[in-house]
Order: sequence, then C-alpha cells, then structure tokens
Amino acid sequence: MPEQKIHFHDMHSTANDLLEDVITGLGKSPRSIPPKYFYDEQGSQLFDRITQLEDYYPARTEISILQKYKQDIVQSLNKHCLLIEPGGGSCSKVRIFINDLQPGMYVPMDISKQHMLASAKQMSKQMSWLDIHAVCNDFTLKLKLPDGLPDAARVVFFPGSSIGNFQPSAALQYLLDISNLLGNGGQLLIGVDLKKDKNILERAYNDSEGVTAEFNLNLLTRLNNEISADFDLQTWSHYSFYNSEQSRIEMHLQSMCDQVVNIGDHEFYFAENEKIHTENSYKYTVEEFQLLGLEAGLQVDKVWVDDGKLFSIHLFTVKTK
Ligand code: AVI
Repeated sequence: MPEQKIHFHDMHSTANDLLEDVITGLGKSPRSIPPKYFYDEQGSQLFDRITQLEDYYPARTEISILQKYKQDIVQSLNKHCLLIEPGGGSCSKVRIFINDLQPGMYVPMDISKQHMLASAKQMSKQMSWLDIHAVCNDFTLKLKLPDGLPDAARVVFFPGSSIGNFQPSAALQYLLDISNLLGNGGQLLIGVDLKKDKNILERAYNDSEGVTAEFNLNLLTRLNNEISADFDLQTWSHYSFYNSEQSRIEMHLQSMCDQVVNIGDHEFYFAENEKIHTENSYKYTVEEFQLLGLEAGLQVDKVWVDDGKLFSIHLFTVKTK
C-alpha cells in the first residue's frame, strides 16, 4: 500500500475564545456572535447539507463554473504551486481541478479540525501522489503557514464567497493579508457571490427544507454544550433577509418571548422579538469586487461568470513591485 503523504499542523489557539467572544458579542447593541462559531462538527455537516440544497444556488453555480472553465483556470495558474485553501474543510471544490493542476503541495486550512482531517485523509487516499499539509487554524484571524514548506509559487484558492462574510473594510484587509502571504507573482482564485434579485437571495438563506434554520439554531446548541449556556431552543427562531442598502444577507436568531439566558455566571435578558445578529453575507458586482482587489494591490487577471450571472470566480495576481 503506498504511503499516504498527509501531515497535520494544529495551529489553533486553545484559549477560551468562544466564551469571551460570546459574552462580548451579547453585551453589544445590537447583539451579535461571530459567524465562525457556526462551524462545530454538527455545524460543518449542516453547512455541507446547505451546499447541496436546490435553493442555495451559490455552491452548485460555483461548481458549474469550475467545471465549465477548468481548462482555462488550470492553464492560468502557477505550475507546481503551493496551493493554499483557507476554509478548505471539505476539500470538495478543489477536487474539480487539482488532478489537472498537479500542485506541488496542497494546504487546506480550517477551524473545524475533525471535519478537515476526515476530508483530507479521504483525499489523500484517492490521490496518493498529492502531498497534503492540513492546518487547523482560525483562518479568519491570521493567515499563517506552518514552517518548513517548500519555496514554490503560491496560489490561494478561496471559494464559496466566504469573503462575503467579512465587512467590506475587513474584506479589504483580508485581501491585503492574502497578498502578503502570496508574495510577488502569487495568485488568488476567489469565488464571489453576485448581486441579484432579492427573492433568489432570500430563498437561498431561507431554504424550504429548513436546513439553514437548523444551521443557525445549532449555534445555540453549541453554546449550551460548550460554554454551559441554557438557551431553550424552542423559544428561538431563524430570521434572514436581504438588506439592499448594505448589499448583504443578514442572518439573526430571534427570541420568541421575553426571557433570561444564563451563560456561566453571566445573565442576559432578551425581550420578545429581540435578535442576535449571527452573519452577514455581502454581495458584489464583478466591477465592485475587482475594485476591492485593486485597492488591495492585486492585479485583475480574469473573471469567470455563469450564464445566469449568479456567481463569479476571479483570478488576481500579486503585482511585482
Ligand atoms: C460560508 N458562507 C460563504 C456562507 C454564505 O453563504 O454566506 C454561509 C452560509 N450561511 C447561511 N448559508 C450559508
């Protein structure tokens, strides 16, 4: 049996981030919890189910673009590169082109350790030629590679419109961080969801099977399990809508009655209909996103869009100074 070329790097801080961030977020007005906390084991599985829903067009549309333009995409990317995928927990989209690209190494990064390890192991079994260095980290905070990786041309693959979950100013900062990580000549292949009819957007985040609601509410189950909160799941509901002024989908958890929630020795009073803001998902036009890339010092190379103009995949290169 061939030796599997898989290595694991745990670069996640073990500090009590969750408790601290939740207490801080619930103390704010309006109350909020960072969306990265959706992704415990159960949340990651629910998210994978979302990506397969008919109503959630971004995932299948991005996949169709990758499939349709695979050849052009592969030809445009650095050969034998170090391929880095922040948030690459499921390693699913990269599979479409990785065999053709034949990178020197693949570095998926994800906050959800078990989920990423399971996918990376499976990928390693199927692609014994591929050298995988899986990194468990909070890629939304710091993009840092483990020491000792080869000095090859770098490519960051950031699919799924995860960049949309950052506020535009934070998205710009994140593009700057990616640019620093890439270095001169490095490339960014990034999926970005596009502005469109409000009904299509709202259906994607209020799916008819209720999986997005389950995903949102699972956050409260996680808080009950991990930081001794006592949220009564029967008294909270999923609420999501498109805020056209801000060009973003907002997700909230809404209290269905007046109630008190305890988290350790902290006590929070929620009035009926009061909300906890759990996620923003910003939508861009192709031109708006290209401008953001330019602001981050990236050179616009190519963009691929589906016929329905629902989703875009951009290729940027770090400009040689
Ligand atoms: C991960 N991220 C890009 C998803 C999105 O569409 O903003 C998360 C998600 N939230 C609800 N459905 C999907």
